[in-house]
Amino acid sequence: MKQLTLFPLSDQQPVETQEWGTFKDSLRAPIHNWFTYPAGFSYKAVAASIKTHGIFVNQVVYDPFMGTGTTNVTAKKLGINSYGVEAHPFVFRIARTKLNWDIDKDSVANAFALIESHIKNQRRNIDSNVKKCLQEEFPELVLKCYEEKTLFDLLFIRKAILGGGFPSAMSDFLFVGLTSLLRQVSIAETGWPYIAPKKQKTSSLNKDALLEFSRQLFKMAQDVVITRSEANPNYKTTFHKVFNGDARNTKELIPDNSIDHVFTSPPYLNNFDYADRTRLELYFFGEAKTWGDITQNIRSRLITSATTQIVRDDPHYNILPDLKKSSTEVNDFLESAVAKLSKLRLTKGGKKSYDCLVAGYFNDMYLIISDIYRVLKPKTKAIFVLGDSAPYGVHIPTDELIGKIGVGIGFSDYHIDVLRTRGEKWKDNPQRHGVLLRESIVTLTKA
Ligand SMILES: C[S@@+](CC[C@H](N)C(=O)[O-])C[C@H]1O[C@@H](n2cnc3c(N)ncnc32)[C@H](O)[C@@H]1O
Repeated sequence: MKQLTLFPLSDQQPVETQEWGTFKDSLRAPIHNWFTYPAGFSYKAVAASIKTHGIFVNQVVYDPFMGTGTTNVTAKKLGINSYGVEAHPFVFRIARTKLNWDIDKDSVANAFALIESHIKNQRRNIDSNVKKCLQEEFPELVLKCYEEKTLFDLLFIRKAILGGGFPSAMSDFLFVGLTSLLRQVSIAETGWPYIAPKKQKTSSLNKDALLEFSRQLFKMAQDVVITRSEANPNYKTTFHKVFNGDARNTKELIPDNSIDHVFTSPPYLNNFDYADRTRLELYFFGEAKTWGDITQNIRSRLITSATTQIVRDDPHYNILPDLKKSSTEVNDFLESAVAKLSKLRLTKGGKKSYDCLVAGYFNDMYLIISDIYRVLKPKTKAIFVLGDSAPYGVHIPTDELIGKIGVGIGFSDYHIDVLRTRGEKWKDNPQRHGVLLRESIVTLTKA
């Protein structure tokens, strides 16, 4: 594996960077692993960037696509301040919870004891109407994912949390504890990205949801203890300002010239529908009941990265004037790709709106990069972990395009490091584009 030029990383030994764009490292790390977010990246990449670019205590790191807070949790552990913006309200709540390290084991034990006595009472009063009660509460998808008694416990744990009058930090903590159980105790194959209620997971049969909930809460409380003890002691005085908002315009949230380093990973241009992928959680918590609710409450707030977001006659899905002006080279490339895709789609069964997807994605990325430029101090860098794609076989070199748009906006230059290539097995297939897809790090420098 080629050593990355901008990331010499550790002084002596080579560091494995291939997995930096994936959540694998974070799944093994305390706090980071409270929620399995397939879109998340490695906390090691954030730490390496902070080290390599010489970001110190009292400085400020910003992640405009905060997700579940990997950048912010890593910054806090290193004693560095952070900002974060995340548009998906459920994902935002996970990040906010991971940043609260004031939770202590005794208060978690007290909260659990209250919930436990509530559930035990409910179990005693259980009657023949349980099926009806669950049917009234949950959409079909949720009913199919659980054994009746498990769902009954999960429902009353949820009710106890939401109606229990807990202080908001404890309520968040309990909420994340319950969330992380949802896929664990489901009898359906709930692996990402799809939920397959027809496939049964026998390992989850007869699981005691209350017992699993207590294990999860105590593991999380222990994680906080471990993390506090390993963290740079300056973490206690750091600030972490996180917002459930839109990174395309943070003027009201983040002052101009206030950020020392941006480390982020935008949604990739790969038709991954973030809103849909949290459907089980949204349905379970009653935050959505239908596809329409998910569109209205979440899908419409996110930058364009899936064809399910597109309304074809909305002008947002044409290449907009600001993006056109940012770089002739980018504009020429995008116009030709969009024209190709709008013809190609008509020859395909699904007729997917990849033409609009590409235009909408780069319109949004233009706004994001402009906003990042505004908030960064001079002589700083913005780092993007991202992947390219080839919808209907038309290769879109996202890393190059983002770099060039950045320069068009005012960054002095850009640099690309390739983390890994994908799709070797299709390389020689004449039906395809013949280009290896890749996951890269794009570094934009503000002079
Ligand atoms: C690749 S994920 C980032 C994951 C993150 N690095 C982590 O480790 O959890 C991209 C995130 O951008 C969020 N997002 C999409 N549109 C957004 C917008 N307009 N403003 C802020 N966040 C947005 C998505 O909800 C998603 O969580």
